[in-house]
This record gives sequence, C-alpha cells and structure tokens, in this order.
Amino acid sequence: MTHMASLRENYGALVIGASGGIGGAVAHALESDPRCGRVVCLSRRDNPGFDMTDEASVADAAQRIASQADGLDLIFNATGALTIEGVGPEKALKAVDPQAMLRQFALNAVGPALLLKHFAPLLPRDRRGVFASLSARVGSIGDNHLGGWISYRAAKAAQNQIVRTAAIEIARTRPLAVVVVLHPGTVETGLSAGYRGNHAAVSPSEAAANLLAVLDELPPERTGGFFAYDGTAVEW
Ligand SMILES: NC(=O)c1ccc[n+]([C@@H]2O[C@H](COP(=O)([O-])OP(=O)(O)OC[C@H]3O[C@@H](n4cnc5c(N)ncnc54)[C@H](OP(=O)(O)O)[C@@H]3O)[C@@H](O)[C@H]2O)c1
Repeated sequence: MTHMASLRENYGALVIGASGGIGGAVAHALESDPRCGRVVCLSRRDNPGFDMTDEASVADAAQRIASQADGLDLIFNATGALTIEGVGPEKALKAVDPQAMLRQFALNAVGPALLLKHFAPLLPRDRRGVFASLSARVGSIGDNHLGGWISYRAAKAAQNQIVRTAAIEIARTRPLAVVVVLHPGTVETGLSAGYRGNHAAVSPSEAAANLLAVLDELPPERTGGFFAYDGTAVEW
C-alpha cells in the first residue's frame, strides 16, 4: 500500500492526467494512502475545456484548484502522448512532419512548462513539496542507441531540460522542494499498446507504486534529477 511518509500528515495531492493509465493508477494509490488528506484529479476527459497545450486553460485550472485546495504537497503530471492526432512515432527521418513534431513539443515539452509556471507557486514554501512529471527513458540523449521516434524523444528531452531549469529556480524560494522527471518503465496502457514488443511491461498500479516509492525517498538535494521507476538516476 502507498504510504507517502515523507509528506505531512493529511497531505494534499494533484494528479494531472488522472484519466490516463498511469495517472489513474497514481490517483487511486494516493486515494488509498491513509496519510493523504485530499487528491484532486485534473484531466482533459473529466474537466471540459482543460488542455495542456492551451495556457489559458492551465491558468484557469490552477486558479480554481488554488482556491479549493488547502496547499498541494504533491503535484504529479501524468499527461503525455506517443501518438497525436493519429500520427505515431517516426521510424526514420523521412517520416518527420513539422506539424506533427510541433504537436509533440506542445504536449510533451511546453505542456509541463505551463504546469510548472502555473502550479509550482502552489507548492509549500516551508515544508517538503514534490512536483513530478512523467518523461521517458527514450528522451535520454546519452542513452539513445537505437534512433527513431525523433519527435517524441526530442520533446521528452526538452521536457527534461525544462524541469531541471525550473527545479533550480524553485529551490530558491522552496528549498525543501523536489522537482523531478520520472521514467515509469514500460507500462500496460493505451499509450504503449502496439509498441511494447518484447519489453517486460508492468501494470499501471505496479508502476504507480514504484514511482510514488521513488518520490517518497528523494531528498531535496536531488531536485532537478531524472529518475527511473527503481530509483536509479537516468543519464541525460
Ligand atoms: N506507458 C508507457 O509504457 C510509458 C513509458 C514511458 C513514458 N511514459 C509516459 O507516461 C505518461 C503517461 O502515459 P500513459 O501510458 O499513462 O498514457 P495514457 O494512458 O495514454 O494517458 C495519457 C494522459 O495524457 C492526457 N493527455 C493527452 N493529451 C492531452 C492534452 N492535450 N491535454 C491534457 N491532457 C492530455 C490524457 O488525457 P485524456 O485521456 O483525458 O485526453 C491522459 O490522461 C506519458 O507522458 C508517457 O510519455 C509512458
């Protein structure tokens, strides 16, 4: 059972993308944590008008949630996509399409930047707070030995830089904050269906438990990092 021992008793949590495979499992795990006071779920499916690629909708959601929630100790971004508007990851350079590439950046890179801009101010100043965003190991530049998937990889790499840069700024006013990107492993969700191949995949509930356990262990000194589901640091 999830037990976020590092957060205050009755902590408040927000899951963005709670309609997704991993996001839904994270929200469920937090709702079952006896230490958790409140879980706010936000998604495109359940909050009409909300879209990560539309700044006004992100700002509206942040304002609404700020007025309802008594502080957010954990903000978990589980949004993202590999296939957008029917366009999946490229197998080769000849498949690069500028509009499809921009849509990847809008969701997987600019989206998390907008979340940081509008939601990071809701993190506590005087106690531990966590902002975690789902990236992917394929966004690692150093670990790229296979090629392909250029838009998704590049957008996730951009997200990694955005989160790290934000972490440095946030640490100035919130020295106990942990702001990180996470690789969830290969997880059985709609996103990975058709792409899992021979990769060993875990259920969304197992992925959620793994990721929350990693977050619970991370000290503020490791803010700005990129971590896998087993707690190991992922190469940039
Ligand atoms: N599954 C894996 O094996 C795997 C591996 C590595 C990394 N990841 C990363 O983990 C994250 C979650 O993936 P998942 O497997 O749980 O995928 P999923 O089940 O397809 O969920 C994706 C989530 O993203 C939301 N979303 C997509 N476009 C959006 C938009 N424009 N505005 C707001 N929300 C939007 C969806 O919202 P609606 O459904 O409400 O539209 C849904 O909640 C992604 O960032 C993915 O890159 C997954």
